[in-house]
Order: sequence, then C-alpha cells, then structure tokens
Amino acid sequence: MSAWNHRHLLGLEDLSREEILTILDRADAYAREPEGPPRPVLKGKVVVQLFFEPSTRTRISFGRAARRLGADTIDFTVSGSSVSKGESFIDTARNIEAMGADLIVVRHSTPGTPHLLAKHLRCGVVNAGDGAHEHPTQGLLDILTIRRKKGHIEGLTVGLVGDIAHSRVARSNIHGLRKLGARLIVCGPPTLVPQYLTTLGVEIAYHLDAILPQCDVINVLRIQFERQRSGLFPSIHEYAHLFGMNRERLALAKPDLLLLAPGPINRGVELTPEVADGPHSAILEQVSNGVAVRMAVLELLAQAREA
Ligand code: NCD
Repeated sequence: MSAWNHRHLLGLEDLSREEILTILDRADAYAREPEGPPRPVLKGKVVVQLFFEPSTRTRISFGRAARRLGADTIDFTVSGSSVSKGESFIDTARNIEAMGADLIVVRHSTPGTPHLLAKHLRCGVVNAGDGAHEHPTQGLLDILTIRRKKGHIEGLTVGLVGDIAHSRVARSNIHGLRKLGARLIVCGPPTLVPQYLTTLGVEIAYHLDAILPQCDVINVLRIQFERQRSGLFPSIHEYAHLFGMNRERLALAKPDLLLLAPGPINRGVELTPEVADGPHSAILEQVSNGVAVRMAVLELLAQAREA
C-alpha cells in the first residue's frame, strides 16, 4: 500500500520524498479522471473550512475537492462570526469540531496555527496557509503542474522569483522540490530574500536576467503588500522593471520555460498580461491541478484516520 500514515497535513517540511510522491501520484490519477458523479470516498464525512484570511482559489478548490469525494462541507469565514465578539481561536475551532467535523482546513495569518489545532482537536487538520510559514497544498499543486508539464522533477532548475521573505508558497516549494531533486534558485531584491534559505539547500540571486537562461521553471511570487513593513524596495515601478516577467525578459529564457504563479497576480507588477496569458504560462492549469491535489490530500488523511 502507499506510503502514508499522517492524520494531518501541516507542511511539506514534515514529509518524506515517498510521502510527497504518494500524494502526487494519487492527485495525478484524479487530474486525469473525467469528472463524473461524486466518488463515495468521503461519504458521511464533514470537511470544515476555517478561513481567517482572504482566499479565492484555495477555499473554492478545497470545497470542490471535498464535494467531488462525496463529503459534506461547512464554510467558516471570520467576518460575520463570533470572533468579532471576542471568541478565542481555539474555542471557535472546538465549537466547530463539536458540530461533527472530521477534517478542518485552516488558513490563518499566524504561523503555527494549524499545528496548534492539531494539538487541541481530535479531527484531522490541513494547513491552507499559516502566515509566511507554509502552504503545503499550493506547493504540491505547483510541483504536480511541473511534473505533468515537464515529465519529471529531478534535475530541473526552478527559480522562485519575488517576495520570498513573506511567501509561504516559497517555503513549501523549497521543501517539496528539494526533496524531489530539483535545483532551486530564489531571486528578488536583497530585502525580500532571507539569507538563511541557503541552509535549505537553495541558491540566492539578486539579478533575474542573470539566472533566467538557466531556469526550466519560474514560479512568480506575489509581492505580499499586506505582510510587509514599508520600504522594502524603492518603488513598484522599479520592482517591475527589475523582477517583472515581460516579453523582453522572456527572450532571455529557454524556449520551453514553464511559468507558474500561485495567484492572485498583480498584473503589470510581477507579470505583464501578455506573459500571464501567454504560451509559457500554466497558471490556470495550476488551479485545475489544485482540485486534484486537494482530493488526494483529503482522501489520504481520511484513510489514515480510519486505519
Ligand atoms: C497564495 C497564498 O495565499 O499564500 N495564494 C494562494 O493560495 N493561491 C499566494 C499569495 O497570496 O500570494
């Protein structure tokens, strides 16, 4: 049977290469499957989405995944909830668990929140983004998209470009892709690229034009304006000039460069529209693969809980 016995998915840092491959293989099968009636894999289970930060793709994608596996879903968003009356995070989560949750998908601005839930609740916990720490299912869907487009991961050079310091997607990509044997280069202005990342086995670069010709994949990360203190780079215009992917810059890249972005994108900052919507871009394929990845994760976690 497959390599999987975790009751929670908190980060890719915690997973082995074999466990990552188990999720990817299952997700790949779901991605290839024509959509039919819901599979009864999660029939009778309740998946709760507990989102304390905005989300479009991740929340809708987990909801789609849960329903395609026959689960009931409950959506919690902080606005309109009793959090505004001062209810604590753990009390909110315990109350939701008491309504019969089997799996809780949580997003929060504080790193470690999913780990706290996993400690205090009996149900399974999936990290849908904790501050600037990890976003494991986004990392997995990025990796699945690369594998489906390139056929393999080992030996590829992947550039992560942008606001690395504040990006949970960067950290999940780094942990996952390094375990699968890719070469990683992180690139951005020095204020947005923490030096300690070299301890995770990645290379650091400050000039996108210098690394672009070596890259098989570029994953363009959004400037996380909401997590930044001001003054980390001189102006948006200068950032776009030095690090934005545009047509002129694409001419420096390999002809088969694969371009990813987790979204949302700031059009005209990290990517020009012609690049975002152009032939190198797999941005919408990432979104489709995201549903398959989340189906695989929910299925594996539910099976581990029953074993
Ligand atoms: C990412 C996130 O929320 O961390 N988005 C996503 O989940 N698709 C990246 C981002 O917000 O820039």
